[in-house]
Amino acid sequence: MNRIKLHLDKKTSSSYEIYIGKAIMDRMGLILNKQKWAGRYICITDSHVLALHGERVQQTLREKGLKIDMIDFPPGEASKDIKTCLHICDQLMAMGADRQSALIALGGGVVGDITGFVASIYMRGIPYIQVPTTLLAQVDSSIGGKTGIDLPTGKNLLGTFYQPKGVFIDLAFLQTLEPQELKNGLAEVVKYGIIDDPGLFGILETRAQEITNQDMDLLQEIVARSCRIKKGVVEIDEQEKGMRRILNFGHTIGHAIETESGYTIPHGDAVSMGMVAASILSERMHYLAAEECERITALIRAIKLPDRIPQSLSPEGIFGNMKGDKKKAGDTLNFVLLKKIGIPFVTDGVPEQLIRKTIGGLMT
Ligand SMILES: NC(=O)c1ccc[n+]([C@@H]2O[C@H](COP(=O)([O-])OP(=O)(O)OC[C@H]3O[C@@H](n4cnc5c(N)ncnc54)[C@H](O)[C@@H]3O)[C@@H](O)[C@H]2O)c1
Repeated sequence: MNRIKLHLDKKTSSSYEIYIGKAIMDRMGLILNKQKWAGRYICITDSHVLALHGERVQQTLREKGLKIDMIDFPPGEASKDIKTCLHICDQLMAMGADRQSALIALGGGVVGDITGFVASIYMRGIPYIQVPTTLLAQVDSSIGGKTGIDLPTGKNLLGTFYQPKGVFIDLAFLQTLEPQELKNGLAEVVKYGIIDDPGLFGILETRAQEITNQDMDLLQEIVARSCRIKKGVVEIDEQEKGMRRILNFGHTIGHAIETESGYTIPHGDAVSMGMVAASILSERMHYLAAEECERITALIRAIKLPDRIPQSLSPEGIFGNMKGDKKKAGDTLNFVLLKKIGIPFVTDGVPEQLIRKTIGGLMT
């Protein structure tokens, strides 16, 4: 089992450990027993994960002497709203959960974001731990303490920064994951390679086939490397005031594509298209060498992620979404570009014409 310590500013949050391994639920039980973060645990999950893994997780933790209850809700982004939060809070009240209770987020990013949010406000804040079960949640959303829910007007508009007591990443969960969900996480892993770790990028290039075939040892290595990168960025910029923005590589255009498709294009696919576009922009602005740009596109193809934008989408619509997003944030159009694989930077100096041309060029 790998252990990675995330060090935070002692004035605002306490540091915590990320544990990574295969079939580690029993060891998690031992650690919860030793740490005594709470007298009882309420596991929040979605009904899909509950059916696949709920029984086994509950049983393993109960065997270690922990008091465990379960609350579930329907899977998917549509559940990430205030109604689900209230449903969870009502159930917590009915169970008699108090400040001696802690939550366990067992699931993907939706479960993690809602559980963290509820933990941060229930009785003015109770402890929680993350047990991410999708690759995206393992390498990204479970680390860093960003919690949130959606409003009808947009995603993640209500939320808090609230750090978990620990993150337990069990690779065994990935065995039941649908291929598209694995690809959603792989897109983020490719991003980490591009922005921070040429070594990881090289592993992905040479072993793409083994990764898509879910070689568990290899997955453990790439998950651990990804977590190290995310934790390093969070340590420097816990509340996303500056450096954490480099994690948005590929996401500016990616989000705009996702929105333009009415969320029919999966997140990982949209981010991949966005990463290809950001690499081409970097090349056209003479920051990135043509061969590095080609390596990025080739890797995305090798992982079976898309490197073109569907012609059915409107390029003007994509561009409009990007500008609309930034206006809402009171921001200029910031892009994360590359000087080299492993060397990103943020700039607001990308000409609009070039962005339009690049998006249009990827649709041919
Ligand atoms: N807080 C953050 O920093 C952060 C970062 C990135 C994304 N997010 C959020 O994460 C969410 C997306 O997360 P996601 O991609 O994990 O989606 P998700 O939580 O909706 O999970 C995707 C699907 O996979 C299923 N699933 C989960 N684990 C499984 C398993 N082991 N086997 C089989 N099926 C399983 C779920 O039931 C669901 O149907 C979005 O809401 C996004 O906003 C948050």
